[in-house]
Amino acid sequence: MRRKAIADLVADSGQGQGGSLRRSLGLWQLTMLSVGATLGTGIFVVLGEAVPLAGPGVALAFVIAGVTALLSALSYAELAGMIPVAGSSYSYAYATMGELAAWVCGWCLMLEYGVSVAAVAVGWGQYVNELLQLVAGVSLPESLSSPPGDGGILNVPAAVVVVLAMVALLGGARESARINTAMVLIKTATLVLFCALAFTAVQDGNFSPLLPLGMGGVSAAAGKLFFSYIGFDAASTAGSEARDPQRDLPRAIMLSLVLITVLYCLVALAAVGAMHWTLFEGTEAALSKVLGGTTGSVLLSAGAIVAVASVVLTVLYGQTRILFSMSRDGLVPPLFSRVDERTGVPRANTVLVSGFIAVLAAVVPLGELADATSIGTLFAFALVNLAVVVLRRRNPELPRSFRAPLVPLVPMLGVLSCCYLMLSLGSATWVAFGVWMLAGLLVYFAYGRRRSSLSD
Ligand code: ALA
Repeated sequence: MRRKAIADLVADSGQGQGGSLRRSLGLWQLTMLSVGATLGTGIFVVLGEAVPLAGPGVALAFVIAGVTALLSALSYAELAGMIPVAGSSYSYAYATMGELAAWVCGWCLMLEYGVSVAAVAVGWGQYVNELLQLVAGVSLPESLSSPPGDGGILNVPAAVVVVLAMVALLGGARESARINTAMVLIKTATLVLFCALAFTAVQDGNFSPLLPLGMGGVSAAAGKLFFSYIGFDAASTAGSEARDPQRDLPRAIMLSLVLITVLYCLVALAAVGAMHWTLFEGTEAALSKVLGGTTGSVLLSAGAIVAVASVVLTVLYGQTRILFSMSRDGLVPPLFSRVDERTGVPRANTVLVSGFIAVLAAVVPLGELADATSIGTLFAFALVNLAVVVLRRRNPELPRSFRAPLVPLVPMLGVLSCCYLMLSLGSATWVAFGVWMLAGLLVYFAYGRRRSSLSD
């Protein structure tokens, strides 16, 4: 139950072995970081799986998933403004609920960040294949573009995109942020182009009946689409590299979420308006199919490749910074907080994390990875919502640059909505989650508890 004082968290923030992280990111880069980490496989691939569940009213499912994300985003914004350090909810839990809760949170974040990079990388492969098909009429052999469970041997494109992101990250946070900003602009433009093309092709009648499978279908689709919102909290992993974290982190989180929700709803409306909802069943690279193999499809597929690459880059960044914070606190080996003097990058951390994720992406199928990501994320979000309520009671006097409205009602609704979506996930996911948490507890009691910087 030992807690790390907020003042100590802030004082230590960014101090690694042999150097410290650099404060180089402003509001614009932070917002781009969150948008970069969010907009990707969810809208470009998972939308295609959600339409057959919800029907033409799939935009409603995006709104429901978006509201769940918003409730937690308000809590994230409050804590990010108050405890402006790297490490996101891991650090918030350390200050509020103690070391064990922090460890559990950090362990869940490895599912949100580490495992989701692998899931997202798998989606990247689908669009690489689509583009190859469209421009050259060829596609990668199944054995080299699918994992063993899906009829292949290795998913090579998925591993390649992770390695490319690693190379960018080793260049430094500022350089990575610059590359990411360019990619976010491209992916936003791609989705706007998609809307423009698809809206001109809207067919009368595609919208009726709006909810052919009723509200049950819509909530199942919302559970699936929650994946597309994961990542809005990425700015909160950059607390030690933000120039003015107190002011900019809450703004970046809220801004990115609003932008993303609007874009998702427009894309969803345009997609089902242009292609009858029943035709989405079993499609890969769904948005490209909506545009029907035209030049638009080529542009869209190229844009999707950039889009998903930027998610891989930013989420990989987040994972390395979370491990950095945990290592600085003594809970994982010191290697993870060793900073390269020239670039200010945690080098060994970045290489190890990327290598591990590249292997994961190469051998595990997308569906299983995506569900594991969602359950871990939802649990971490629930803890963040609780942390807001705890801190309002325990430290009402602390300055908050952003205040979540109607506390404790809104954060408690956040907890409930996270639990609700967790319960909608299958039993196999729960078993995997249980095993993961058990492994986490073993690691903590065997290593972190004694090595913690608070243990002496
Ligand atoms: N939200 C991220 C994506 O959809 C995980 O790619």
